[in-house]
This record gives sequence, C-alpha cells and structure tokens, in this order.
Amino acid sequence: MKISFAELGAPKAGTVVVGVGEDRALTPAAAALDKETGGALGRAMASSRFTGTKGQLLSVLAPANLAVDGIVLAGLGKLADVDALTLQALGGSVAAHLNGAGESEATIQLGALDGVKLPPAAIAANVAFGARLRSYRFDKYRTQLKAEQKPTLKKLTVQSDVGSAAKKAFADLDKLADGIFFTRDLVSEPGNILYPESLADEAMTLTELGVEVEALDEKKLKKLGMGALLGVGQGSVRPPRLVVMAWLGAKDKQAAPVAIVGKGITFDTGGISLKPGAGMEEMKWDMGGSGTVIGLMKALAGRKARVNVIGVVALAENMPDGNAIRPGDILTSMSGQTIEVHNTDAEGRLVLADALWYTQDRFKPRLMVNLATLTGAILVALGSEYAGLFSNNDELAERLTAAGKAVGEPLWRMPLNEAYDRAIDSDVADMKNISGDRNAGSSIGGVFLQRFVNGVPWAHLDIAGVAWSKKDTATVPKGATGYGVRLLERFVADHYED
Ligand code: BES
Ligand code: MN
Ligand code: ZN
Repeated sequence: MKISFAELGAPKAGTVVVGVGEDRALTPAAAALDKETGGALGRAMASSRFTGTKGQLLSVLAPANLAVDGIVLAGLGKLADVDALTLQALGGSVAAHLNGAGESEATIQLGALDGVKLPPAAIAANVAFGARLRSYRFDKYRTQLKAEQKPTLKKLTVQSDVGSAAKKAFADLDKLADGIFFTRDLVSEPGNILYPESLADEAMTLTELGVEVEALDEKKLKKLGMGALLGVGQGSVRPPRLVVMAWLGAKDKQAAPVAIVGKGITFDTGGISLKPGAGMEEMKWDMGGSGTVIGLMKALAGRKARVNVIGVVALAENMPDGNAIRPGDILTSMSGQTIEVHNTDAEGRLVLADALWYTQDRFKPRLMVNLATLTGAILVALGSEYAGLFSNNDELAERLTAAGKAVGEPLWRMPLNEAYDRAIDSDVADMKNISGDRNAGSSIGGVFLQRFVNGVPWAHLDIAGVAWSKKDTATVPKGATGYGVRLLERFVADHYED
C-alpha cells in the first residue's frame, strides 16, 4: 500500500472517508460532502445505528453526481478526547474495512478538527501510521492465496490543509513502522528458518543504517565464561549466539548508553523438562524479546535518534538431546554465580543472566531494560492486556509505564521482594532457576534476573502475554504484535535524547 499526503480536494476515484464526532456531529469535510450529496450522509446515519461513536464505521454508496464510488463515515467520538491513539485506530480500522471490501484506492479527508488538541499535520500523520500498522501481513509462505484472500488497498491518500507538513510529520512514524514490521517479521518466522545464527544474520542487516553489529560465537562465549547461555544452547545442533548492536547517535559518543536486552529463544521445547505437545508451535515466538530489541534498533537508527543505545540479544534454541542440560546440573554464569537447574524449561532467565551481566560489565549503561517472553504465569496474572513490569528503580518504572500508556502498550508493575529472592536459594549452588512451587512464578523470574544486574537501574518486561495476539485489534493484525518497539522508542524520545 502506498501512502501519500495531499491538500483537501475532491477525490476522483475509489472511496472517500470522512470523520463524524459523537452525536452525528459532522466534521467540516463530512459536512461539505453531505451538502454535495444532497444530504445523503445525514439520511444514511438517521437510518442506521451509526452515531459517530469512536470506532464505528458506516459505508454509504456514493450518489451518481460524485466521482468516487463509495463513502465511509468514521466515528471519532467526543472530539475533545481525540488523541493520537484514536486517530491511529481510525486509520487502522478504515484500512482493514477497505481491504475487506475489495477497495483498491481511498482518500481520507480529515483536515483540522475543532476541539482536537493535535495540529492538523499530526492528525493526518497518525491516521496514516495506524493504516500502515494494520496493513501488515506475513504471507511469504502462503503460495495458494486466492484473490479474495489478498489485501486490495493499493493507494491511500490522507488529505489535510497542510499536505507537505503532514508528510514530514509522518516520516518518523514511518521509520517506527519499519522497525515494528521488522520485529513482526522476525517473530513470525518458524524455528526451522530462524535460529541463532540466522537471527544474528538478520540483526547484521542493521549495519546498513549505521548500527554497529557484532555477533559473538560459541568460542567467544566460552572465553567470556557464559556458562548459562551455553548451557541452554548445548542441546541444540544450532549453536547459540550473543549479538551486540550499538547505535551511537548522541553528540557525545562516549556518553553512557541506554541498554536494551532481549531473550532470544528461537524455539523453546522446554528441553529435558519437555513441554506438553499441544500448542508447542507457539514457542517459535519465544525470541519475541530479542525481536523487539532488533526492531527498536532499526526504528531508532532509521530516524537517526540523538541517543546512544546498546541492544543485546541472547540467542539459543532449547532442545532435548543427549547433550542437553539436565535437571540438577549446575551452571557457572559469567558473573561467577552458580545456578542449579531445577527445570530446563526455565531457560529464558538463564540466557538473560549472562546477557545482563555482560551488558552492564562491558557498557556501563545508565540503565538496562530487558524484554522476555519469560513466564506463562504473567498470562495468568495479566492476560494480554498488560505486559508485566519488574524494576529495582521507581523512576525508571514510572517512565516506562507512562511511555506504555501513551503509545497503547500498557505495562503493569509487579513486585520483587526479599521473600521471592529467598525462594530461589539453592542447597548446592548460589541459586536455583525456579522456586519450590508454582506460586508467584513471574516475580520469581524477576528476582532471578535481578541477581545479574549488579545494582544498575533495571527493568524487566515480561511480554509472554503480549508478543503474539490471537485476534485483530485496530492497529495490530493477529499474529506477531511487535509489542515494545513503540513503547521503548517513546521512552527513549521522551527522556534520553539530546
Ligand atoms: N517461554 C516460556 C514462557 C511462555 C509461556 C511464553 C507461554 C509464552 C507463552 C518459558 O521459557 C517457560 O517455559 N517458562 C516456564 C517457567 C517455569 C518452568 C518456572 C513456565 O512459564 O511454565
Ligand atoms: Mn521455557
Ligand atoms: Zn522460553
């Protein structure tokens, strides 16, 4: 789909989309169109349930005197409450509706909206951003799609009275969408295609954007003493990797970076503590945390963010095998701390233990945020409405929460405390990788990771419930969501750029 911006004017073909506020309040563009159609829009609303509520859409056949063939009314709700997320949702819903209806060309007319706090350029840009986000597809392995199964919308024009300013406002959002799409692509790939080495190769493509990328192989990992990451990887014929990405966009390239760390289990069978068969195919997206880190680096480099950011992803495949780690094995992590493995399915915390320690040791970051599809327990607690947030630092937690709220990727803070920490003490090593029962499973994962951050301000986002979606939402088609790219891009933009 090609997205463009133009000044307001009568479209010549396709569908024209106009906005309607609560209680059927026509926006100026809608009022003009209503007049042109001899009041057809008012009549169509009156004979339907459409009242202009946020999210409502109403299709109207265009009368013969118009050059377009269809009209869509899009509900905006109370104009005073319209924010960037409302506009993105509108763009997304309209794109999905038109693709479903078989339309190939459309024009969205919004212009300036009385009572809406955003400038006209931002209004147009956010509508376009939403339309692009919803139009994501992962069809590369579907060789027999019928015409009616394919998206049809080829050309979307967003009209405003500030055509070129809207295009400028869209440019950064477009780069953000590029990052999100990269994440969605990576997370969608199956385990036979995406494994530690091939995922490292994907990260390597960011060098085109000026990101420095380094992939550490098994030999280097051994030398660094990363026994936890190597332990998880040793049951697979695909060797583990640790990939380091550096985007140095700040004026001072030496300034302490923000570090983002991702769990990258390219497939999680559970290892010797094998998972049940049903649903195991979902574990191809157990590299979701690393997918987000890589997509975030793409988004930041794409818009040349003025900040130093280090991205680190710990990549391994968790397989049962003659060479796999067993329950009871003791691993020595890079930090020197020893870990008794009670369950080989609690592998994400093992690979992150070495990645977090390495990151703080080498880069002395001002803060670290890690993302991980770490626990099924976070789904029990929060479902898919929130990702879990665990942190040793209140300011960091508040900043992340605010960023999540602003972009529609909400976080809910969960506790870490001394009692949880005691629960992972081991009788034979410095710690074990699970506690003695299933209680508070997500917090147990959190306190485990905390033992490897060496006091650095740190937050852990447990994204097991949000990295993949089973249903479409306005801006996220079902499948890989790309959760976290927008959140962290906003977090960085709001606090850490010079
Ligand atoms: N990758 C899983 C967590 C997960 C579960 C992600 C469901 C997405 C959906 C993780 O490695 C895991 O297996 N965790 C175990 C931990 C347990 C053994 C303490 C779990 O949640 O059951
Ligand atoms: Mn697991
Ligand atoms: Zn896992």
